[in-house]
Amino acid sequence: MVDTKLRVLISAEKIQARIRELGEQISHDYPTGTLHMICILKGACFFLTDLARAMKRDVTIDFMGISTYGKGKTSSGEVRVTKDLDISLEGAEVVIVEDIVDSGVTLNYLMHVLDQRKPHSIRIAALLDKPERRLRPVHVNYVGFQIPDEFVVGYGLDYAEQYRNLDDICVLDEPPAQ
Ligand code: IMP
Ligand code: MG
Repeated sequence: MVDTKLRVLISAEKIQARIRELGEQISHDYPTGTLHMICILKGACFFLTDLARAMKRDVTIDFMGISTYGKGKTSSGEVRVTKDLDISLEGAEVVIVEDIVDSGVTLNYLMHVLDQRKPHSIRIAALLDKPERRLRPVHVNYVGFQIPDEFVVGYGLDYAEQYRNLDDICVLDEPPAQ
């Protein structure tokens, strides 16, 4: 796909190498028991499928849809669950798998929602982190890459539902007004 607005920030090779490391690290941190990976749709679907296959142990997977309103500079932060989980979390070891942590509004909300379901533990794996943009506190246990405050697309991340299927993570040089 040739698009002059796109500039590669993290190549497909670097993404895959980092995910292999994360898979080993997370597997090491959970030596026994069932590990339940929750993919936050839609952006994290590519990351989830690669990360699950990089794990050196059995895992179960599930999917959750979240939509965030009032985002951007004002970030009033209204969050809504659009697709709920299929499996109960009671007593489970849970890893939330997210594409990117930006303001932190989504994950801050989600941690509260999922905590009420009485899992044994919850950790967060995010492929990308933009720490400069944080408005709400979120502890991200596993980070793929910290990136600067730029709008990125590819490897699951979209702009208006486009560019998700790029292999690389790219900066969109004409970013949307936020
Ligand atoms: P937060 O609630 O502000 O942390 O938002 C996280 C969500 O915003 C992510 O799951 C993405 O869907 C979206 N998002 C944040 N930054 C970007 C970006 O640079 N590109 C594409 N989507 C983004
Ligand atoms: Mg998302």
